[in-house]
Amino acid sequence: MPPGLRPRVLPFKKMAMKPSPSPCLPTQFLLFLLLLLLPSRGEASPQQGPTSYARFTFDATMFPTEADYDYIVVGGGTAGCPLAATLSEGHRVLLLERGGAPQEFPSLMNQEGFLRTLVETDASDSPSHAFTSEDGVPNARGRVLGGSSAINAGFYSRAHRGFFENSPAHDWNMALVNKSYEWVERAVTFQPVLRSWQSAIRDGLLEANVTPYNGFTVHHVAGTKIGASTFDSSGRRHSAADLLSFANPDNIRVALRASVDRILLSSPHPGSRRRNQHAAIGVVYRDRFGRQHHAMTRPGGEVILCAGALGSPQLLLLSGVGPRAYLASWGIPVALHNPDVGNCLYDNPRNGISIIPSVPLDHSLIQVVGIPESDAADASFLEAASNVVPFFPPSRSVFLHDPASPLYVTVATLMEKVPGPFSAGSLRLASLDVRDNPLVRFNYFSSPEDLARCVAGVRRLGDVLGSRSMEEFRRVGWWGRREFRFVGPGLPANRSDEAAVAEFCRRTVSTLWHYHGGCVVGKVVDGEYRVTGVGSLRVVDGSTFSVSPGTNPQATLMMMGRYMGRKMIEERRSRRRRRKASSLAPHA
Ligand SMILES: Cc1cc2nc3c(=O)[nH]c(=O)nc-3n(C[C@H](O)[C@H](O)[C@H](O)COP(=O)(O)OP(=O)(O)OC[C@H]3O[C@@H](n4cnc5c(N)ncnc54)[C@H](O)[C@@H]3O)c2cc1C
Ligand SMILES: *[C@@H]1O[C@H](CO)[C@@H](O)[C@H](O)[C@H]1NC(C)=O
Ligand SMILES: *[C@@H]1O[C@H](CO)[C@@H](O)[C@H](O)[C@H]1NC(C)=O
Repeated sequence: MPPGLRPRVLPFKKMAMKPSPSPCLPTQFLLFLLLLLLPSRGEASPQQGPTSYARFTFDATMFPTEADYDYIVVGGGTAGCPLAATLSEGHRVLLLERGGAPQEFPSLMNQEGFLRTLVETDASDSPSHAFTSEDGVPNARGRVLGGSSAINAGFYSRAHRGFFENSPAHDWNMALVNKSYEWVERAVTFQPVLRSWQSAIRDGLLEANVTPYNGFTVHHVAGTKIGASTFDSSGRRHSAADLLSFANPDNIRVALRASVDRILLSSPHPGSRRRNQHAAIGVVYRDRFGRQHHAMTRPGGEVILCAGALGSPQLLLLSGVGPRAYLASWGIPVALHNPDVGNCLYDNPRNGISIIPSVPLDHSLIQVVGIPESDAADASFLEAASNVVPFFPPSRSVFLHDPASPLYVTVATLMEKVPGPFSAGSLRLASLDVRDNPLVRFNYFSSPEDLARCVAGVRRLGDVLGSRSMEEFRRVGWWGRREFRFVGPGLPANRSDEAAVAEFCRRTVSTLWHYHGGCVVGKVVDGEYRVTGVGSLRVVDGSTFSVSPGTNPQATLMMMGRYMGRKMIEERRSRRRRRKASSLAPHA
């Protein structure tokens, strides 16, 4: 092996020192180190600071071609980071992330860069991996350590009570749920300061009878509230990646730009207790030079997929777990027939309006939400944002402006999101290359209940827009009337006209990026998030959800990573205790 390719990730237990930079250190890695040396602005999260994970985070090229671990976590996203950090308390953990570190992408590190990050997707390693569903709605997924929590709008809110009470097959330990939320919140949440648009929305919601006013809270309660944010007071982003600072540095390695191609499954063992069962024994991943690495599990270890609602079902399919005929049509050797992998994929429809306000506005992402009467059948959630966006005025418009170059204007948005939803879609492979987005279809509004809730939500939105609090954002239009200047379609004029509002819902549907499912509990994984019929393999991420938790999912995904880590450690401990007890028991 040429010396430049010698794996440089130090073995466990010898990690106290920094890796010594060598002449062939990849430039991206050097950049990463450099960024870590820059003083960080704003409050640091507890513990050693948000980037202390640099000590055990390396480019995948530096990893050995084969190594073993107790737990292999696939996907360093919203659930994967807290899970890996927690498991490392007493076990050797490898966390594999296909993207880079958030500090490599300055625009995603602050609130103002939110839209730029979403739009700049040309590079094959951009942190926002764009996709358009077959419904024609543009969408995005995270491709960076921290996952989608490192590119999202930062709104943080716990799940609604029903999410835990009606959860299929999983009996949540609520004390541990609460403790896990608190663990997350101490590290990555902040109380936002409301400015112009957000305070007007709060007042407008109250005028539209979305009451009571609950002030600042992380809880899901009916009425109008201010939620927490993962952006701190200086606008700097915190994400699930920060939770890696709680990891035991002696026990964890994080590989960046490591794309997992497939899960390695052992054949059923005729001699073993679960003789008909396949078991995960490791994964194959590829670094950015295309070199393959094998990571294997040690006895008692597991592979955990945290690759998200698109990534986890995609990996199961590529590894031969899925509908038999479908896998065969791709020439994928079938390990286990499961008709539901990739089914029950959902995205909550979002509809709303955007206006160019008459008065200057501060930039804001979602801070205030309206939750009409606790989960009433026709309730949908209301949220708002204001962003500086490039705007292309129509040619020959009143703007004296070159029509080819954009004006930068502040656009204020108000939107509603249908909870659930009921409408289900599915995911299929686009190719056998894991780096290609799978094909997804969400079938928005295929269920009449979703459409009814959208109609109710749009009507409520109309009430907010019509409130006194919104007056100051109107402009003096034709005939001297004060009107909103809409960017894109305005609301239907006659909101009693059900058909017109329903048509508006269908025509203007977009996403709030809360898509979930594909490996749902009760169909692909059991109540302990184990893949049914495959040993030592779990899925812990949004792909297991059959409804989106609360108004926004990231809080619950981070909680779930922590929660499942604690459960798995406890499970292993009691297994060991049982084994010890039975070996000590006198033989009959
Ligand atoms: C633009 C945007 C705005 C949003 N705004 C909010 C908000 O304000 N509040 C909120 O609560 N939620 C928000 N969401 C939703 C929320 O961020 C996601 O639901 C959540 O982060 C998903 O978490 P996850 O753990 O399921 O997946 P992810 O966080 O997406 O993690 C999956 C990880 O796996 C990696 N991966 C995938 N495949 C592979 C592979 N084969 N090999 C290696 N790695 C792989 C990915 O790169 C990614 O890092 C937003 C989402 C987006 C995209
Ligand atoms: C968990 O927190 C919720 C919300 O604060 C509370 O209602 C519930 O009683 C708590 N449950 C336990 C078991 O601590
Ligand atoms: C609005 O729609 C309702 C229901 O379709 C209809 O009865 C009413 O006449 C309409 N109002 C106007 C002003 O068009």
